Amino acid sequence: MEDKKQKNSSISSVKPLDMLPEELGWRLRVFDSLSFPTLILKPSGMIVAANKVFLEKYSVSQGKIVGMACHEIFYNSPDSCSPSHCPLPKILTECTGHSMLERVAKGDGYIYEDRVFSPILNDEGKVDYIIESIRDVTRTKVLEKELTGIKEFVARVVQSSASAIIAADTNGKILLMNRAAKDLFGYKYWSLSDDLVAADLYPPGEARKIMEKLRNEKRGPIGKMPSSNVTIRTSQGEDVPAEMSAAIIYEGKDNKEVATMGIYNDLRERLRVEKELKETQIKLAQSEKMASMGQLAAGVAHEINNPLTGILFYSSLLQEKITTEDPMFEDLSYIIEDVNRCRDIVKSLLAYTRQSNSVQRIIHMNELVEQSLTLIRDQKVFADIELEKNLAETMMIVNVDTNQIAQVIINLVMNAVDAMDGTGHLLLKTYKDMAAGQAVLEVSDTGHGIPEDLLLKIFDPFFTTKKQGKGTGLGLSNAIGIMHENEGDLVVKNSGRNGTTFKITLPLFDVTEDPNILGNADTAELFTNT
Ligand SMILES: Nc1ncnc2c1ncn2[C@@H]1O[C@H](COP(=O)(O)OP(=O)(O)OP(=O)(O)O)[C@@H](O)[C@H]1O
Ligand SMILES: [Mg+2]
Repeated sequence: MEDKKQKNSSISSVKPLDMLPEELGWRLRVFDSLSFPTLILKPSGMIVAANKVFLEKYSVSQGKIVGMACHEIFYNSPDSCSPSHCPLPKILTECTGHSMLERVAKGDGYIYEDRVFSPILNDEGKVDYIIESIRDVTRTKVLEKELTGIKEFVARVVQSSASAIIAADTNGKILLMNRAAKDLFGYKYWSLSDDLVAADLYPPGEARKIMEKLRNEKRGPIGKMPSSNVTIRTSQGEDVPAEMSAAIIYEGKDNKEVATMGIYNDLRERLRVEKELKETQIKLAQSEKMASMGQLAAGVAHEINNPLTGILFYSSLLQEKITTEDPMFEDLSYIIEDVNRCRDIVKSLLAYTRQSNSVQRIIHMNELVEQSLTLIRDQKVFADIELEKNLAETMMIVNVDTNQIAQVIINLVMNAVDAMDGTGHLLLKTYKDMAAGQAVLEVSDTGHGIPEDLLLKIFDPFFTTKKQGKGTGLGLSNAIGIMHENEGDLVVKNSGRNGTTFKITLPLFDVTEDPNILGNADTAELFTNT
């Protein structure tokens, strides 16, 4: 009833423009020439007037629209909108303008309208009318959405990068840390609110050096640091080698510095592989050298062996012909002794070139150690040496040439004894390295140690630091050859002033490899005893 009355009064208020007072006519012209569809509403939401653009857009006549409620025209609904949706109640109480963004179905899709409500106040400051302008903001909205999409995509790219990415503002405060960076630097739960600064990510002075490089023209364009090796510091205080490239981020027409960003890659794995490669190359060069030395040694050994036998034979013959009192007897003893020593060297050389036949046996590692010790432990040199055996109780079966391996163990033990100069502590320790599938023997002494620059040389044939006539220098080169031939290895585990530990490894024998093994009386005993 009330609406009806209002409708009639508003219809009657719409008069031909030329009949209106000049002031009102001017205002209506302004209203009509607005380029946005615009309505004038009563505080009740009833439409009082619509401008030309509105009438055209909604294909409706002024006569029809005046007196309708806004929800009837916009939502084709007889019911007024809920207070949470309709801004009119707010405009009436606050007497200020409001806007709302509306998604409106159009054709198969949607358009976005920005509806701006501006109150027209009367002399008492109360809302008499409300102007509602409708602006199509679909294009802006679509661009906004696309931009958000691009932003989210870039954020996802940054987050999923395998390289660590970090950005900091001009004060060094960390603004961004992707997942890889959180892992690398150990700040798993970092968030923007944390007080983390760039300097915390490096050892002291390193951040400053990076900033200097970034601004150094000689190192490339200013504001860019090409890939460089740096040291970073994790949250646990561990210093880690990393490869880093960095850039300053500029903004605006005046190219103002706003942030710095760094991309990091952990170098630990690469350095480890490079080190291994270098070691392998050294070993390869060493084994090549040993192979050629071996050929040479084999030739020399063969050539020398026959004349030596002759010298030994004739000098022994001469000695037999004279009495022990004869002044020549002692001289001949020296000749025989030295010839025997030469024959030992020849024997070693032949062993070094692997000219002897190998005898493969399945044996417990501890047994091998015990057998080797029995061969030498009665020697005088052991008198003042404290021997400790720490042999693993687990089963450690190896399939090796036992004579050869015993030779290796004897050489390691004799070297240790020599290094201790007759007094000290000798430890033989065996254990099983499950992860590597190896049986391990460590021979540790409390001797003088090996200087660092000799660590690789000691494996060279004929390298010895022992007095002339004491060592041939073939022991370790022989030993390493034997170990490789038995698919094992020999390394210096550590050496220093307090002594040296040599470590030999042999592959554990897999019983399932030879199902007949338990049927063999000798070897079956091995498995039952352990
Ligand atoms: N346990 C050790 N402590 C200190 N130095 C060692 C030890 N073992 C070996 N060396 C060093 O390595 C060198 C080479 O050893 P290697 O066994 O090859 O020859 P050698 O013992 O001198 O002679 P040979 O074994 O032929 O009698 C030794 O001369 C010594 O300088
Ligand atoms: Mg030796």
